[in-house]
Amino acid sequence: MRVEGKKPAPRDRIIFALDLPTRKEALHYAGLLKDSVGLFKIGLELFVSCGPDIVKAVREVSGRGIFLDLKFHDIPATVRSAYRAISNLGVEFTTVHCEGSRALSSIDALRGPVKALGVTLLTSLSEDDLEEMGIDPAYRALQELVLLRARTARKAGCSGVVCSGREAGVVKRHLGGDFIVVTPGIRTSEDLTEDDQKRVVTPYEAIYSGADYIVVGRPLRDAPDPITKAEEMAEEVQRALADKARG
Ligand code: C5P
Repeated sequence: MRVEGKKPAPRDRIIFALDLPTRKEALHYAGLLKDSVGLFKIGLELFVSCGPDIVKAVREVSGRGIFLDLKFHDIPATVRSAYRAISNLGVEFTTVHCEGSRALSSIDALRGPVKALGVTLLTSLSEDDLEEMGIDPAYRALQELVLLRARTARKAGCSGVVCSGREAGVVKRHLGGDFIVVTPGIRTSEDLTEDDQKRVVTPYEAIYSGADYIVVGRPLRDAPDPITKAEEMAEEVQRALADKARG
C-alpha cells in the first residue's frame, strides 16, 4: 500500500509488527499476511538480526509498504546521518523519539521521502513510571505529556506520531486530521494474557478515537489462525470508521 493517494481500506490501516528473530520466520509471516494487512513493521530485533537487506526482502515477498521502526534517540548529527542512510532503503515510515527536539529537527532539515513519526511515550509506560523518569509533575497526566511531545514532533517536521489509543483523540483534536496517528498496544477482548504493554486499547477503540493506523504484533503473530484474526481486526476497524462517519 502507498501511504499517499487513495483512501486506505480497513485492512490497510493494520500494520503487522514483524517481531521475529530470523529472516525465514519474517518472510513466512510477510507471505502469510500480505493480503490481510497494509504495512509490515520491521523493528530492532529483525533489523539487528538480519541487516538492511531484510527491508527489500519483506517488500518483495509482501508487495506492501515498510515501517522501519528503529526509534532513533541520539545527538542531532547522528540522527541526521541515520535518517539519511535509511532514506535509500525504500521505506514509508520511520520513528524518532520526541524527547530531543534538536535531534528531531535534524529530520526537518532533510525532509526526505521517508515519513518520520515521533515516538511520544512508549505504550509500555504508565503514569506510575513517569515519576521514576524524572518527568515534571505538570506532565504526569499522560495526555498532557503526549500532546507536548506531539507538538514538538510537528514543529520539527514529523509527519505524525506514535501514541496509545488513549491519547489518539487528543492529538487529532489539537494537531489536525492530516497529522498521522499510529497506535500500538492493541489487544482484543480475547487477548487476555498480561504482558509488557500497559496503555492498551482494542482496534475499534483506537480507530474510533482517531488513530489512522494500528500496530499489531503478538496478538496476530501468536494467534492460532493469524489470517482470521487479522480479518476480525479489519472488521472492527471498519465498524469504527462507520460509527465515526455517523458521528
Ligand atoms: O506485540 P505488540 O502488539 O505489543 O507489539 C507492538 C509493537 O509496537 C512492537 O513492535 C513495539 O516495538 C511497537 N511499539 C510500541 N509502542 C510504541 C512504539 C512502537 O509498542 N510507542
